[in-house]
Amino acid sequence: MAVERTLSIIKPDGVEKGVIGQIIARFESKGLKPVAVRMAQLSQAEAEGFYAVHKARPFFNDLVKFMTSGPVVLMVLEGENAVLANREIMGATDPKKAAEGTIRRDFATDIEKNTVHGSDSLENAAVEVAYFFRTIEQHGYAWKK
Ligand code: PPS
Repeated sequence: MAVERTLSIIKPDGVEKGVIGQIIARFESKGLKPVAVRMAQLSQAEAEGFYAVHKARPFFNDLVKFMTSGPVVLMVLEGENAVLANREIMGATDPKKAAEGTIRRDFATDIEKNTVHGSDSLENAAVEVAYFFRTIEQHGYAWKK
């Protein structure tokens, strides 16, 4: 098992619903530790840059509009197999298809207002973490082996 880092975003609907603490508690209870946390209101340019890979998709403008509609919580999570573990805790992109007990099943409204983002591969995690956090802003824990 490898210790990995992944980017997590609590989206504007999660912040609006007042479930920041519950979401972070789910990560922590499953061994994913926040090593960097920042609340931010994304600019249009920041959101467009972050989601550039989806630029050609029909929902791109809606996604950018939604992600800039209110504050988000940006986090780097660290733990064993953090990329996959985070995706499992989040649940499927469409909350209607998300498994019981996942964040999206419990808190998301629809495929747009789906409460959390998580990097989908180790490669993308490195890019996404670096997009929002400098190395000096990422912290370690004494428990690290
Ligand atoms: S995934 O998880 O990347 O495989 O999902 P994908 O279907 O490729 O969707 C990528 C992101 O786009 C968001 N999305 C949408 N936003 C607005 N409207 C519609 N219709 C829509 N469909 C998908 C989806 O929530 C994903 O956001 P992130 O932040 O990557 O989870």
